Amino acid sequence: MFNRISIFTGNAHPKLAKDIAKYLKGEVSQALVSRFSDGEVRVKIEENVRGKDVFVVQPTSPPVNENLMELLIMIDALKRASARRITAVIPYFGYARQDRKDQPRVPITAKLVANLLTTAGADRVLTLDLHAGQIQGFFDIPLDHLYAINVFVEYFSKKKFKNNLVVVSPDVGGIKMARAYAKRLRAGLAIVDKRRNTPDSTEAIHILGEVKAKVAILVDDIIATGSSLIEAAKVLKKAGTKKIYAAVTHGVLSKDAPKKLENSEISQLVITDSIPLPKEKRTSKIKVVSVAPLLGEAIKRIHEEKSISILFNF
Ligand code: R5P
Repeated sequence: MFNRISIFTGNAHPKLAKDIAKYLKGEVSQALVSRFSDGEVRVKIEENVRGKDVFVVQPTSPPVNENLMELLIMIDALKRASARRITAVIPYFGYARQDRKDQPRVPITAKLVANLLTTAGADRVLTLDLHAGQIQGFFDIPLDHLYAINVFVEYFSKKKFKNNLVVVSPDVGGIKMARAYAKRLRAGLAIVDKRRNTPDSTEAIHILGEVKAKVAILVDDIIATGSSLIEAAKVLKKAGTKKIYAAVTHGVLSKDAPKKLENSEISQLVITDSIPLPKEKRTSKIKVVSVAPLLGEAIKRIHEEKSISILFNF
């Protein structure tokens, strides 16, 4: 297989690229991705890619602009090196939270990034738990959208909860996904009524649903400042919830989120490795589950022109 496909990575998450290549019984291909003295991104593809099916693994996680620029420039280099097809594998699609004009004179950055990727030369995109499903439509090239739900359900199923589990969505936008988790885990469903005061702070108002004396799993796509989940956990605790877990696909964990999490009502935060978790952000409350096999299987199926819907049916 590795004589027909190549997997490349920039500096965003080489470990994930390596784990994906390992799942596929191969190795990450060589590329120089560094900086010129003035900070411009310098790329040189070190292997022949003529006629190859190429996958570039690069989440656009912090430092977002650096990682995004690396991805765009790598795609440009691969295109000019005559790769047959280039798939941008973006396990975390940054700039996604600005996905509509919800105030006057604001940009739609998710659409801008989609345009940039297409202009750079991406033929396909493979991504995971987009902040909003509609972002798929911002691309005029094929996009495969995977979900981490199966990975989380496998993790929580091993905990053998008694019949006292409730899945909680920290906001109204997450109900559909929370309902899918509740169904799979045979749990109840509750929703937190959240208000965002500033981009970095939220206020949880009250809860809709039965949570008293239950074990709760808060599910969300992103944890950034942690405000949404920590505020939701406070309200859950007040309402008599026994224990609180959180399952979040993308652990952005910006600012002092890990510290705030340590002092919160959340007993354990389970995140995926869609974004690298640097040492200084690791705490005993954070558990990481891997999406490398999921992404690896999707890459294999895309290359073999097989259906990948089996990976996102839930
Ligand atoms: C919001 O709609 C998202 O689903 C997340 O709840 C939000 O991005 C989390 O941000 P923070 O951790 O800063 O509250």
